[in-house]
Amino acid sequence: MRRSGGGESALHWGRSDSGSACASRYHISALACSNNKSANRPKEQSGSIGRKGESGRKPMWRRRLSRAKSTIAHLLDQGPQDSEKVVINGFIRSIRNQKQRSFASVGDGSSLEPLQALLTPQQLLGRLSNGTAVRLTGSWKPSPNPRLQSHELHVAEVDVIGYSDPATYPLQKKYQTPEYLRTMPHLRARLPFNSTLLRFRSDAIAAVTSFFHKNGFTQTHTPIITSSDCEGAGEVFRVDISEKELGSKADEGPFFKTPKYLTVSSQLHLEALAQSVGKVWTLSPTFRAEKSDTARHLSEFYMLEAEISFTQDLKEVMGLAEQAVQSIARNLDTAVSRVGKELLQGPVEEVEFKRRVEGMLQPFHRITYTEAIKLLQASTHEFEYAPTWGHGLQAEHERYIAAEVGGKADMSVPVFVTHYPRAIKPFYMLPTANVVDGQETVDCFDLLVPEACEIAGGSMREHQLEPLLKSMQAKSMIPTGPDPSDEDLGELKWYIDLRRWGSVPHGGFGLGFDRLLGYLACTPNIREVVAFPRWVGRCEC
Ligand code: 4AD
Ligand code: MG
Repeated sequence: MRRSGGGESALHWGRSDSGSACASRYHISALACSNNKSANRPKEQSGSIGRKGESGRKPMWRRRLSRAKSTIAHLLDQGPQDSEKVVINGFIRSIRNQKQRSFASVGDGSSLEPLQALLTPQQLLGRLSNGTAVRLTGSWKPSPNPRLQSHELHVAEVDVIGYSDPATYPLQKKYQTPEYLRTMPHLRARLPFNSTLLRFRSDAIAAVTSFFHKNGFTQTHTPIITSSDCEGAGEVFRVDISEKELGSKADEGPFFKTPKYLTVSSQLHLEALAQSVGKVWTLSPTFRAEKSDTARHLSEFYMLEAEISFTQDLKEVMGLAEQAVQSIARNLDTAVSRVGKELLQGPVEEVEFKRRVEGMLQPFHRITYTEAIKLLQASTHEFEYAPTWGHGLQAEHERYIAAEVGGKADMSVPVFVTHYPRAIKPFYMLPTANVVDGQETVDCFDLLVPEACEIAGGSMREHQLEPLLKSMQAKSMIPTGPDPSDEDLGELKWYIDLRRWGSVPHGGFGLGFDRLLGYLACTPNIREVVAFPRWVGRCEC
């Protein structure tokens, strides 16, 4: 039943296979332009949107909206139950006219591949253009050109549900750059490949939810508004009431008494909940006020985080991160996954896609930070920043490690880099038990892949009260000296309190969900895999 490519032009980044005209407003009179059958229903055509007609029944257009039995994806895959009575709801992607007939490519967001509809010039009557929302009724017939598509819809009835003005529709048939398309995220999602990316995200969430559920984790919702900067990097957005409220008479000072921020990580709250139900996870919006204008950074992104109690083993946390990531990659098996197949039909290079997805299904590599530094120092590659023990790894170093350690001829296997220097990591990480050559490290890891660099970070947590206080003092987060007061502990008092009553060894990780999706879908920029991306200087709609 499936069509193999052809029909429409190849897709490139940011390319639309639709032409002009945007269905941004409901144009009820468009129904009056419908074919003869519907044109004979004047009462219903003039009926107001959503109101019942004089008979007390819903207007005809309303009743008929629900008539479409299945999505275009389902129709293309399975064929119809009754090939003489096929009804589909969708949007015109493009129209090709011949003397006696016209071909319309119709999509409904359920598949990258469009449905081909055969229309007469009378049925078009200048009222169908790219972006128009239609309901088509007709018969499902074998195509004379089965190489392009196995079947096509011979249209008997056309209903225009949403008119689209061809003169102003911003999604053009010609190539439009990703940068330009990012200026209209409210429309960009209608492009076929962008709808595939939406479905990819949805499938990935379903797969990873199922993974955690099967493994006995409790999904939790952690707060967005928080009191502290978990990572201590100072890249927080502050929450405030609007200027209108500030200026009003009712304004009685700060809304929350003390400053509040948008969360940079759910970790601290997850640690609290892991003491309740043992194994927890969340997929939560996360905010970072980093002014990093790169293909990997967003100001608002989704972080998948998990935390497990009663474990002393960093390897267990790494194994969990590995399996969680693999549950998403496995779901892209092109033999069974529509999204997997569609990612290949889009602008993605097959070799590159397979390199990433199949590499992610292999056992991940594991090296220590110290080994990584030695590898970098031994390299003949000219780095902008000299690799030095005690300094963080730059993106160029991460790229090199990912390619050198994880890169095989036809696969890129992710690489865990473990045991970073204590001084460059946050206060909550557990120091490594044995110090080698006086170099203090922490039980932590970063997970690296080519291009996207770091996709996840995790660690064992310091679960004992005194060492935690010392670590915070060493980082000048609280005053030095014994018995710090509640005031000294400030906004993190609650977190420290977790160590007073039934604290157990535990660890967890945070995965940059958008980075992972962008990497697997081979999008060159993370801004393409997020429907409404926000980054420094940009927050459209
Ligand atoms: O490495 P990070 O900062 O780790 C934490 O926040 C831990 N508290 C998580 C935990 O242990 N529960 O962030 C985790 C991941 C990074 O590896 C990266 O993939 C992603 O979040 N990330 C970003 N993704 C997009 N845009 C940004 N600005 C990002 N900053 C971090
Ligand atoms: Mg990190």
